[in-house]
Amino acid sequence: MKAAESRVLLTGANGGIGQVVAATLAGAGASVMLAGRSPARLSAQARTLQQSLPAAQVDWHEVDRQRNDAIASLAKQAAKWRCNVVIHCAGVAEFGRFDAADPDRMSSVLQTNLLAPMVLTQALLPHLRGLPRAQVICVGSVLGAMGLPGFTVYCASKFGLRGFAQALRRELADTSVRVQYLGPRSTRTPFNSSDVAHYNQATGTAMDAPDRVAQALLRMLEAGTAERFLGFPEKLGVRINGLMPSLLDGAFHKHRASLPLLLRTSTHCPIEEMNNAH
Ligand SMILES: NC(=O)c1ccc[n+]([C@@H]2O[C@H](COP(=O)([O-])OP(=O)(O)OC[C@H]3O[C@@H](n4cnc5c(N)ncnc54)[C@H](OP(=O)(O)O)[C@@H]3O)[C@@H](O)[C@H]2O)c1
Repeated sequence: MKAAESRVLLTGANGGIGQVVAATLAGAGASVMLAGRSPARLSAQARTLQQSLPAAQVDWHEVDRQRNDAIASLAKQAAKWRCNVVIHCAGVAEFGRFDAADPDRMSSVLQTNLLAPMVLTQALLPHLRGLPRAQVICVGSVLGAMGLPGFTVYCASKFGLRGFAQALRRELADTSVRVQYLGPRSTRTPFNSSDVAHYNQATGTAMDAPDRVAQALLRMLEAGTAERFLGFPEKLGVRINGLMPSLLDGAFHKHRASLPLLLRTSTHCPIEEMNNAH
């Protein structure tokens, strides 16, 4: 769909990538509804966009993706606003050894990165299906198609998101709704901690500017591309991993060596608790 015809609900609009995406889409003529957690930051962002692009139509709505009732209310507002494109850009990072991962944090990563886009898409589908054309674009990651040491929980969420996007695209193939997946590689935003920056440096992983992701999203919106990954050698890695994952299993020594040493000290281990109770 042409940018000028699109009315985009953008989640994660206040984020490092989201801010550039919002400006890029509005600059290309799209109307944008910014969604995020902080009303103060959203209204300031909407004001700034409106000042720099007086013709742009910019709205905003608060949402906490940890809460399904907040997601339902966002869907209602977006339908009323006549949105015809949803870009799921909100997401949280999780990096470190799996031994150190906190189970509560695992749930919250899966809720934000995977369940929230599913729940929001489902709530908006009756509205989107009634339109002559609509698009749902999931911002995943290269790590939704290639498992990396240190990113087990994050990879689980983004592999899930990619599976969701692919299955739903096929399920809706004879409707007006197109479902797409963009997999950026590492991108310079506050998303990446200093530990990740160190890991990237030690493993020779390149980082893109958020503008690269924004331009790719604009192209995907206009071309309707089903799935796209950014960066080389990441694209090649995704291809090989898809065909023969075991070929790559031995290629991550440097990545393992670059993981933070920290192990979780206070453990809540359900199996141990069950054993102790008997
Ligand atoms: N940066 C990278 O290296 C990279 C690489 C590949 C893919 N990605 C993906 O690109 C997307 C954007 O990443 P980014 O770099 O822009 O990250 P970011 O700067 O950390 O921004 C993340 C956004 O997600 C929102 N968010 C997080 N938890 C939320 C919640 N519970 N409810 C509502 N919103 C929530 C944040 O909202 P608030 O503004 O309210 O905090 C923020 O706007 C993510 O899906 C990420 O997985 C990033």
